[in-house]
Amino acid sequence: MSADASRLDAYWMPFTANRQFKQAPRLLTRADGMFFRDDKGREVLDGIAGLWCVNAGHNRPRIVQAIQNQAAELDFAPPFQMGHPKAFELADRLARLTPAGLNRIFFTNSGSESVETALKMAIAYHRVRGEGARTRLIGRERGYHGVNFGGISVGGMVANRKMFGSLLAGVDHIRHTHDAARNAFTVGQPAHGAEFADDLERLVALHDASTIAAVIVEPVAGSTGVLIPPQGYLQRLRDICDKHGILLIFDEVITGFGRTGQPFAAQTFGVTPDLMTVAKGLTNGCVPMGAVIAQQKIHDTFMTGPEHLIEFFHGYTYSAHPLACAAGLATLDTYAEDGLLTRAASMEAEFAQALLSLRDEPNVIDIRNIGLVGGIELKPLDGQPAKRAFDIFLDCWDQGLLIRTTGDTIALSPPLIIESGHIARIIDTLRAALRRAA
Ligand SMILES: Cc1ncc(COP(=O)(O)O)c(C=O)c1O
Repeated sequence: MSADASRLDAYWMPFTANRQFKQAPRLLTRADGMFFRDDKGREVLDGIAGLWCVNAGHNRPRIVQAIQNQAAELDFAPPFQMGHPKAFELADRLARLTPAGLNRIFFTNSGSESVETALKMAIAYHRVRGEGARTRLIGRERGYHGVNFGGISVGGMVANRKMFGSLLAGVDHIRHTHDAARNAFTVGQPAHGAEFADDLERLVALHDASTIAAVIVEPVAGSTGVLIPPQGYLQRLRDICDKHGILLIFDEVITGFGRTGQPFAAQTFGVTPDLMTVAKGLTNGCVPMGAVIAQQKIHDTFMTGPEHLIEFFHGYTYSAHPLACAAGLATLDTYAEDGLLTRAASMEAEFAQALLSLRDEPNVIDIRNIGLVGGIELKPLDGQPAKRAFDIFLDCWDQGLLIRTTGDTIALSPPLIIESGHIARIIDTLRAALRRAA
C-alpha cells in the first residue's frame, strides 16, 4: 500500500506525532530477521526489536507456523472457569525460566495490564493475610509502567502526570537513579548511587511501613531514557523492602527474555523480586500477551476460603488466549534453540564498545549500556527539548535504520540475533546522522 494522504486520517495513532507522520508517513509492510521493508520496498534495519519485543528477530518460521496451526485448531477458549492445555504448558515452561520461587503465572495481554494486575495483586495479598491497611503503592521518578491509571500513577513520567488529572490516590515515589555528574559514560552498571535506594526509608518514615503494599521499579528503565541501576542499588532496595514487609515488584516488560544477558534482569542483577511483570518478548511481539509472575508464597496466600469461590477477583477476556499461548511456546522454543536468552551477555562488550565510539560526536553528553540495550543522550536544542533526537530519528529512517528516541535520548534495543555487521551499520548510520544534525 502506498501512502494516500486522505486514507490516513481515520487512524488516530498512539504515542505518535500524528500531523508530522501523516505529512511523511513511515509505513512498514514486511519484516524478516533483522530487517523491515517499507511500502517503497526499502530495507530498514531494526535497531529496537520492533518496540523492545521482537527479541528473536522477525517472522521466525516456527512461531508463524504455531500461530497458523493454533488459529485453525482452537481460536478461543474462555479463560474464566475454563482452560486449554497450552495455557498450562506455557505457564509451566515460564516457571522454569524465572528465578527460584517465582513460579505462579497470571496471564494478561500487555505490559500495562501486567502492571495493573501486579499492583492489585500486591494490595489484595496484604488484605488476605490480614494487613488490609497496606494499600499505598510506591513508584520511582522517571519510571514507566505503561499507560493505565495504576501504571501512570506509580510511573514518574511528567507528560503522563500533567495530562491525566490527579491519578490514583495513595501513591508516592522514590527518587530516580540518574546521576550524570558522577556516572556519565559508564560502561555497564554505574559505580555511584546504591544509596538512592535509601529514599525508600524516607517514605517509610513518612507514611509508616504498615500502610505500604509494594514498591515497583524497572530494573533498567527504558522509556525514560535508558537508566541502568547503580551497582548495589537493587539489592539495597530488596533489603529495605524485606525489613519492612513491603513487596518488591520488578517491571521486566522490556528487560525480560534475554535483553540484559540472562532470561530476566532479576537474574542478571542477582536480586529476586516478589512479583515480576512481563510482556513483549514473551511472544516475540507476534501476538499481544503479558504476565505477572508471582512468588509461590504470594499465590498460596490467596488459596484459602471456600473452594468454590474465586480467590483473586481479576482477569481479562483474552487472558491466556490460545493464539498467544501458541506463539509463546514457539517463542520459548526459538529462544532455546538459538541460545538467545543469554546471547546479549556475549554481545555486550562489542555493543558497548561500538556505542562508546560515538562519545566524541557532536552533542553526545552520555552513553549508557547493559546487555543489548544502549542509550545515547544528547544535549537538547535550546528551547526545543526532544527536537534534536527526533530529527536524528527521522534522518536514520531516511538512511534505512529504525531507532527510538525518548526526550533527547536515543534508545537502542536490537533483536538478540544481531551480528557484528548489523552493529557496525547501526553505529555508522548514527554517527553520520549525529554529524549532520550538529
Ligand atoms: C517497563 C514497562 N512497563 C510497561 C510497559 C507497557 O507495556 P504495553 O505497551 O505492552 O502496555 C512498557 C512499555 O514499553 C514498559 O517499558
